[in-house]
Amino acid sequence: MNNPFARASGRPPTRLRPRTALVSAVAGLALVATSVVVASSASAATTLGASAAEKGRYFGAAIAANKLSDSTYIGIVNREFNSVTAENEMKIDATEPQQNNFTFANADRIVNHAISRGMSVRGHTLAWHSQQPGWMRSMSGTALRNAMLNHVTRVATYYRGKIHSWDVVNEAFADGSSGARRDSNLQRTGNDWIEAAFRAARAADPGAKLCYNDYNTDNWTHAKTQAVYRMVQDFKQRGVPIDCVGLQSHFNSGSPYPSNYRTTLSSFAALGVDVQITELDIEGSGSTQANTYRNVVNDCLAVARCNGITVWGVRDCDSWRSGGTPLLFECNGNKKAAYNATLEALNAGGTTPPPTTLPPTTPPPTTPPPPTPPPSGAGCTASVSLNQWNGGFVATIRVTAGSARLSGWSVNLSLPGGATVTNTWNAQASGSSGNVTFRNVSYNGTVNAGSSTEFGFQGTGTGPSGTPTCTGS
Ligand code: XIL
Repeated sequence: MNNPFARASGRPPTRLRPRTALVSAVAGLALVATSVVVASSASAATTLGASAAEKGRYFGAAIAANKLSDSTYIGIVNREFNSVTAENEMKIDATEPQQNNFTFANADRIVNHAISRGMSVRGHTLAWHSQQPGWMRSMSGTALRNAMLNHVTRVATYYRGKIHSWDVVNEAFADGSSGARRDSNLQRTGNDWIEAAFRAARAADPGAKLCYNDYNTDNWTHAKTQAVYRMVQDFKQRGVPIDCVGLQSHFNSGSPYPSNYRTTLSSFAALGVDVQITELDIEGSGSTQANTYRNVVNDCLAVARCNGITVWGVRDCDSWRSGGTPLLFECNGNKKAAYNATLEALNAGGTTPPPTTLPPTTPPPTTPPPPTPPPSGAGCTASVSLNQWNGGFVATIRVTAGSARLSGWSVNLSLPGGATVTNTWNAQASGSSGNVTFRNVSYNGTVNAGSSTEFGFQGTGTGPSGTPTCTGS
């Protein structure tokens, strides 16, 4: 039940490494020194999404359909983020207001906006005790179980191929020291409701990562964290399809950022799932707030499988907890100290400091070096990882810069007959069958020497099998 797509993006971020092979001693040292200096000073990313993309991660925000026409708001969204979550528009009450009557108009506005700009989308959420429509709140037993599974199937099928990660189940554990499931109408349909929801979601959209999402699961020692950990461990052991754990991470004085947060992230990751920070907001102001944002980013970057961070809103006045001014932008759109700290931490996370001692000189080879394979393009390589099922596939392509920084890239690959690209993220595709070229989008064209970025696409038919050609500029 492992999802290769999920595993592929769980690789540790490639850090900047000078390529010294086959470069003659003196000239080689000069080259190495130059490229490191250029990469570490001149190329710091200037937006959250671009910086995260350089580390093979996303940085997203929860957005609201009714604010897409607010120019300050959408300006920030388009500039800063490479992932979005619908704040309310994909919840059960929004998508199935009457039983079997599905409405996707508002969610579509968000999804279409994201896709048109090459952003990925987190789906939130398929099964939850809260924000249920009236008809569901009054249901119970087998009827409710079937209605829930129908909802999961219909919504995940509708968005098949468009969702990077789904919060399949949200907030199913109780607060406090019990470590028990939260009582709810869904829980009362039987303890296996969570795994049933995950199985239905996998069948409906095999390309999406499937997450369990919750709050107050940040502190490693808390009973709720431990209970979720045991459930995920059990799911992995029994082959229940789960790919990721979402930590909402709403921090305030009653629920502060815990010093063992990194332990929580790495402990979940060690179970073989990705970890995503899904609803980050940190109440406070000034340098205290900024430092906590910095800590959260550093913790995520330290865990290879922490592959994305989403803040729960854009400006403070957009927040569900606006009184706590918990976000990265002021209401007028200005960046806060918390923003600067977040960007700095993201940028610092991808910069390998210049070597303090010179690398050893390579003696001239006594035998001629083996022929180098023909270059697959100027200064970059691309590799594909494929998640394939009968009739469709998701391909994740990793673009790695050679010994020089790229300011743009394109990847060409050929699809077998009958295969068609239906959706692309973090790249712009030309063509949809046969030979297809994917070009960088605005925020991920810059790739530091030795660093990588990822894009993906979904298709029908059989996925590509040959090696893609990467061309850098
Ligand atoms: C919140 C939204 O931000 C509000 O606009 C809405 O009124 C209530 O829900 N955990 C979750 C999110 O998983 O869906 C919640 O979002 C915040 C807590």
